[in-house]
Amino acid sequence: MRFRLPAALALVAVLTVAAACGSDEDSDDAGPTATASPTTATTPTPAEPPPAATTAPDPPEPEPAPPPEPLPGLPAYTAGFQSWDRLNNEPIPPNSPQTARVGFDAHLGTKNVRVNRDRDRLAQTGAGERRPYPEGTILVKEARTGDFVSLVAIMRKISGTDPAHGDWVFIEYKRSSADAPFTTEPRLMGELCWSCHQIADDTDWVFTPNDA
Ligand code: HEC
Repeated sequence: MRFRLPAALALVAVLTVAAACGSDEDSDDAGPTATASPTTATTPTPAEPPPAATTAPDPPEPEPAPPPEPLPGLPAYTAGFQSWDRLNNEPIPPNSPQTARVGFDAHLGTKNVRVNRDRDRLAQTGAGERRPYPEGTILVKEARTGDFVSLVAIMRKISGTDPAHGDWVFIEYKRSSADAPFTTEPRLMGELCWSCHQIADDTDWVFTPNDA
C-alpha cells in the first residue's frame, strides 16, 4: 500500500516590516548661503512645479521710429519740417530777389522754404505758378541766425478759412537762442503777413518759386 501524503502544508508568513520613515534629522548643512533672513524663513514654500513653463525671453521688439517732435514752442503740424522738401534749390540769402519785389527783407537771416509735399509733384501740377497749392499744404520758412533757427514763418492752406487771402493761414514764431522755446504774438499773424504777400498773388501768395 502506498500512502499519499498530502502535500506538505506550506505556511508562509510574510512579515512586512514597514520601515519607519527615515528620520528627519536635519542635515544641518548650513552652507555659505544659508543665512536666510527671518522674514523669508517663516513661510514654508510648497513644492514648486517643474520649471516647464519657463517663459521664453521676449524677442527684441523692433523699435518703431518715434514720431518726430516739433521744435519747442512750435505747433505739432510742423513736426519734422526740417526734413521736408525744399522749394528753393539753394539757401535764400538776405535781401533776396524776392525781397527786392517788396522793397525790404521782412524775414532776416539765411532762409529755406520747406513744404509738406513732394516738390516735383507740386511743379507738375503747377502749384504756386498757375494753380493754387493743394488743400493741406504747409509752407515753412525757416531763417537762421548764426547756427540756429531763430524764425519760423508758416502758411497753411485751409479751404474756406480766408478766401480773400488765398485761404492761407499765416503765423510766425521766433526765439532768441538755440535753447529758448519759440513764441509768437498776435501781430505776427494775418494782416501784417498778407499785406505784403498779396504782391505775390499771381503765384498763389507765395513768393519763392519752386526751383525743381
Ligand atoms: C514786407 C513783406 C513781407 C512780410 C510783411 C511778410 N513776408 Fe513772408 N515772405 C516775404 C518774401 C519776399 C518771401 C520770399 C522769401 C525771401 O526771399 O526772403 C517770403 C516768404 C514767406 C514764406 C515762404 C513762402 C513764400 O511766400 O515764399 C512764408 C511761409 C512766409 N513768408 C510767411 C510769412 C508770415 C507768417 C508773415 C507774417 C508774420 C510774413 N511772411 C510777412 C515777404 C514778406
